[in-house]
Amino acid sequence: MARLLELTLNGRPRVDAVPDNRLLLDYLREAVGLTGTKTGCDGGECGACTVLIDDRPALSCLTLAATVGGKRVDTVESLVRAGTLSAVQRGFHEKLGSQCGYCTPGFVMASAGLLRRNPAPSEFEIRKALGSNICRCTGYVKIIEAVQHAASLLARGEAGAP
Ligand code: FES
Ligand code: FES
Repeated sequence: MARLLELTLNGRPRVDAVPDNRLLLDYLREAVGLTGTKTGCDGGECGACTVLIDDRPALSCLTLAATVGGKRVDTVESLVRAGTLSAVQRGFHEKLGSQCGYCTPGFVMASAGLLRRNPAPSEFEIRKALGSNICRCTGYVKIIEAVQHAASLLARGEAGAP
């Protein structure tokens, strides 16, 4: 069975017919064409598919698209505004927080969710917020530094949004 899904996706209203059993991850990538959100484990283990639902990080591989009706969903594509990187994107870029980059959209969205709730997190709070995300390339130190750098950019007013 299919139903009409009405949501705000990356700041814009959108309506689509979606089958009841369609995952949010598949809806974003295949129906909408937003391929920034990655499929990793496809089973809730790696965090590569993280998006924000009403500003809270969520695993799109474990979320049915039909359950986000009336909500705001933000993917990594939403972060660049007028050609300018977000604070978190700058953090990952300037502190070399990604290597192959496959996990990066998930880390970036989990970090953006954290900084929207808590713009000045401690290292412990950053580690906790990123605890559901796995990177096979890095030792996580650069990723933590990237989020700390993003928080400093926000604190100094050098970036407008996480
Ligand atoms: S693809 Fe969703 S947690 Fe790995
Ligand atoms: S940078 Fe390669 S998996 Fe994280």
